[in-house]
Amino acid sequence: MILVTIIGAGNVATHLFKAFNKAENITVNQWFSRDTNTISAHKNEVEIINDLSQLKQADIYILAISDDAIAGVSEQLPFENRIVLHTSGSVGVYDMDKKHRRGVFYPLQTFSKTADIDFKNVPICIETINKKDYSIVKALAVAIGSPTKKVNSDQRRVLHLAAVFVNNFTNQLYRIGHEITESEGAEFDLLKPLILETAKKVQDLSPYRAQTGPAKRHDKKTIRKHLKQLKNNHHKAIYELLTYSIQKTHGRKKL
Ligand SMILES: NC(=O)c1ccc[n+]([C@@H]2O[C@H](COP(=O)([O-])OP(=O)(O)OC[C@H]3O[C@@H](n4cnc5c(N)ncnc54)[C@H](OP(=O)(O)O)[C@@H]3O)[C@@H](O)[C@H]2O)c1
Repeated sequence: MILVTIIGAGNVATHLFKAFNKAENITVNQWFSRDTNTISAHKNEVEIINDLSQLKQADIYILAISDDAIAGVSEQLPFENRIVLHTSGSVGVYDMDKKHRRGVFYPLQTFSKTADIDFKNVPICIETINKKDYSIVKALAVAIGSPTKKVNSDQRRVLHLAAVFVNNFTNQLYRIGHEITESEGAEFDLLKPLILETAKKVQDLSPYRAQTGPAKRHDKKTIRKHLKQLKNNHHKAIYELLTYSIQKTHGRKKL
């Protein structure tokens, strides 16, 4: 049995709690949140605390908190020589207080509290400073059905940067598509099969080979029509920049 304490009550912490709570060989013994009201619905399943001095012995402590808070909270933990992991893609493992056996449990996925997630589809990127701590951290990931990968802080930073492009920026483009359809009375839902196919296609084809559209075809008239159609200057600037980027990749440098 692995005894885990979760610190933080946001998107990642909430999904981790649910997954750990379901796993047979994991017990979540405490869950820390600055505001216990946010997780009070789980008070019958786990001990909820809002004071770090109430932390009890556990095998692993997970800091699933904002990137900027990780170093400070790791210093405030009232113990030493225990395994403390953070879940961030961009914070270094050495950024936590050196009194701990430090490591990283970075789930390479997008988490929102209100969207279900299956941890089978969540690769966990693991790093531990002490080699001997790796196996228990890996066992924790395996217990929730996740694939695991040993990833050091430099590699993790690269993955996180790429993740911002493939997830956050792509989602912002969905948002712009949504604004355009909403403002013109068209149905965003009609675009959903296209969104799914775009993600599905790159599972087998490289993103380079998967590209289609007026920018890649160098259909100048269509591009000019789109730019004329766009009323929002901000959307226009993004259209021009991405068109330039696609054309640079596929052989033309000017609009
Ligand atoms: N969301 C994702 O898709 C995703 C994916 C992979 C990794 N991550 C990483 O996972 C971590 C958590 O992300 P998230 O999306 O779950 O964030 P989130 O939903 O914004 O939640 C952040 C949590 O951190 C707590 N917190 C912030 N400052 C604190 C402090 N000084 N002391 C104690 N608690 C503090 C917040 O508490 P309050 O509610 O009291 O402010 C909240 O519970 C981050 O390192 C992030 O990079 C996120």
